[in-house]
Amino acid sequence: MTAMAARMAVRALIGTALLASGAYAAMARSPQEDTLHAAPPAFPRSARSNFVERCGGCHGLEGRSVARNVPDLAARAGFFLCTPESRSFAGRLPNVMFARLSDEDLADVLNYVMFDLGETPTSKLAKPYTSQEVAAYRANPLSVTDLHAKRREVVGEMVARCQAPQAMLDYNRPRGRIPGRVEEMK
Ligand code: HEC
Repeated sequence: MTAMAARMAVRALIGTALLASGAYAAMARSPQEDTLHAAPPAFPRSARSNFVERCGGCHGLEGRSVARNVPDLAARAGFFLCTPESRSFAGRLPNVMFARLSDEDLADVLNYVMFDLGETPTSKLAKPYTSQEVAAYRANPLSVTDLHAKRREVVGEMVARCQAPQAMLDYNRPRGRIPGRVEEMK
């Protein structure tokens, strides 16, 4: 066998081995597919049970809250991945940050909330939360005296930039503060 023929034979062998192992398919993926999350990121089953335990009491087991002063998460929370500010706002909310969960478990719960329970067109293009990101949020709590004003600001951006529904702007007209709006007080 000539040196050239030997090299070709080796290449053919490597090619077959790559195809057989599936590695070839992985190499052929475009870099874009690795940065866009067309499918929700993987999170363990415990994310759902941790959500039920740590968040479900207020937000409802399926992300539809019973109380008017707690926002729904179902089919809308994913819009919080719209801008860096809205993303960190959601991650730095007191009830989120102080949940008794490790950084890793909390990142999984947030990903479950944003990509599954609250999936939106925005979340389809967003990166998942990581435990390092959650640790950074915990070291830097939201320092706003008026949480509602801050929320209006970030949700306003979500509506303007990511087609979040207008209805997200006022989830919680405080009971009794708007005279004459009896229908709001259900
Ligand atoms: C004690 C009740 C309570 C618990 C427990 C709770 N939340 Fe919330 N959550 C709220 C309220 C009330 C808001 C509205 C903002 C605020 O006042 O904190 C909110 C806002 C949010 C938002 C932003 C939604 C929006 O439209 O403003 C997200 C996302 C969220 N919570 C996720 C979670 C997750 C994840 C957990 C569990 C780790 C959790 N929450 C636990 C009451 C709660």
